[in-house]
Amino acid sequence: MRSLRKTVLFGVLVSVVLVLALIHTWPTRAYTTIEVWQQPGPLVERHLEDRLPEPHPQLSAIPFRVRESVAGLLARNGCVCESEGVTLPFFQILSSRVSAHQLHTAFQADELEEVKKRRDKEFKSLRKRLQTSTDTLIIAEANNPLQYPTQGVEVRPLKTIIIPGLALQDLPRDHYSINLTATLGTLNVAAEVDEVQIQGDGEMHMTLSSRRLTKLNRQLQFVTYTNTLFHPNTADTVHFETEGHQANFIIKIRHGVTPKLYNIGNEGEYNISALVTIATKTFLRYDKLQNLIDSVRKYYPTVTIVIADDSQNPQSISGPYIEHYIMPFGKGWFAGRNLAISQVTTKYVLWVDDDFIFTSKTKVEKFVDVLERTTLDLVGGAVREATGYTTTYRQTISIEPGEDDGDCLHLRRGFHHVIQGFPNCVVTDGVVNFFLARTDKVQQVGFDPRLNRVAHLEFFIDGLGSLHVGSCDNVIVSHASKIKFPWTSQSESDKAYAKFRYPPASSDASQSKLGLLFFKNRFQCLTRGD
Ligand SMILES: *[C@@H]1O[C@H](CO)[C@@H](O)[C@H](O)[C@H]1NC(C)=O
Ligand SMILES: *[C@@H]1O[C@H](CO)[C@@H](O)[C@H](O)[C@H]1NC(C)=O
Repeated sequence: MRSLRKTVLFGVLVSVVLVLALIHTWPTRAYTTIEVWQQPGPLVERHLEDRLPEPHPQLSAIPFRVRESVAGLLARNGCVCESEGVTLPFFQILSSRVSAHQLHTAFQADELEEVKKRRDKEFKSLRKRLQTSTDTLIIAEANNPLQYPTQGVEVRPLKTIIIPGLALQDLPRDHYSINLTATLGTLNVAAEVDEVQIQGDGEMHMTLSSRRLTKLNRQLQFVTYTNTLFHPNTADTVHFETEGHQANFIIKIRHGVTPKLYNIGNEGEYNISALVTIATKTFLRYDKLQNLIDSVRKYYPTVTIVIADDSQNPQSISGPYIEHYIMPFGKGWFAGRNLAISQVTTKYVLWVDDDFIFTSKTKVEKFVDVLERTTLDLVGGAVREATGYTTTYRQTISIEPGEDDGDCLHLRRGFHHVIQGFPNCVVTDGVVNFFLARTDKVQQVGFDPRLNRVAHLEFFIDGLGSLHVGSCDNVIVSHASKIKFPWTSQSESDKAYAKFRYPPASSDASQSKLGLLFFKNRFQCLTRGD
């Protein structure tokens, strides 16, 4: 018994010694703790608010005339949710070309206050994430003898650069001194110049001074900045001052963007099979889907087709270059789109509906040519209805800033510009559900799986500001189905349009869609029109 105890004790002792030895020899590294919510430093704010010289008192006494045509263009503070035109009963479509929807109606009156509070909290935390020094207003004061870079200085996280362009203009003085102050890194000099005194080198606040201006200016050519607080994408505002004068400039701190390149083969003709994957989502309509596949195969026998399927009793779809993904029953429209695009490995993805038919006018090469030769990320085509009507469903999307109640979202038919060299193509914000896109860009924006019924433009709303969208009316796919969807309908199907686009206000799908616009996108109002 005793010997057993001794053995155990000995064993424990040995392990403790071993662990200690291991800890001792383990390579250690000192880590500092930092506050990751970067706020613009108090320094910048102080200089913005207090240090700008007061405008001359006589200025406010000078009278002026407002030019209404221009003043009206300046955004109002707080957008207003209203329809345009007179709304007469029975003549709604004719009289009012723009309709307005108050989005808070998606919620019950008693829960609205709570929802608004939560939205506000999420919005503030998002803003904190996104804001950097580059968003701060900086004003260059008049007659500044300081020379400095206004933009274009960039450093990789935790790396060092020489700050280019620093200098002090000739001022009649017997002693020259400048201060540099950073908040996310330290300042130093890469070389020393005689007759220049350096204080605070290696710190966030550095002073350089000299009796001779030329020496000081020479020294300023060797000033370095070292980022010390890691952040993959932010900016530091450096404060630069001499007696009586000051300036702020921005150093961007960011990792380089990792390229995502696709090997598209040899030059010459576009090899569609190597460049494009066709993605679609199906639900019950297997006969339609088979017609689509057969029509694609007539023109593109070896292009890969990815199918997302949330039918209740999925049927097998097989064949060469087909990938069929079965999803839980009724997962929905955007969930299916999301799954389909997540499986694409080619540079481009072509979105089609399962009831489309390829014809000789469905020239995917033309789409590829547009995306290869422009900066567009996505280009839509035209859908030809069984009636012979074709539509591009071009939409412009704009956001007018509001205050605490949220912003206003405006959807209008139309486009911004015609694209030079492509007379059939325009730049716009939203297109029909037949489009070719850069795969990585659509994957970044994603299709919100919460949108499970009728949804389409929501993807373009989420992508606003990151997707560069075009539309060409000379790449045409045929629509087999008689069912009219809002984005493939036109005046002759206004009834269907209204029915799908504005389902009865009580319907769950409609309410949850408005709710997403209200909370997720922080809109208070949606207006649509021509
Ligand atoms: C530079 O900073 C020091 C404090 O570190 C201050 O005393 C001095 O007045 C500043 N000089 C200029 C030119 O602003
Ligand atoms: C086109 O690409 C496919 C898939 O990468 C490849 O199998 C085929 O050989 C290519 N065709 C030509 C003509 O290069």
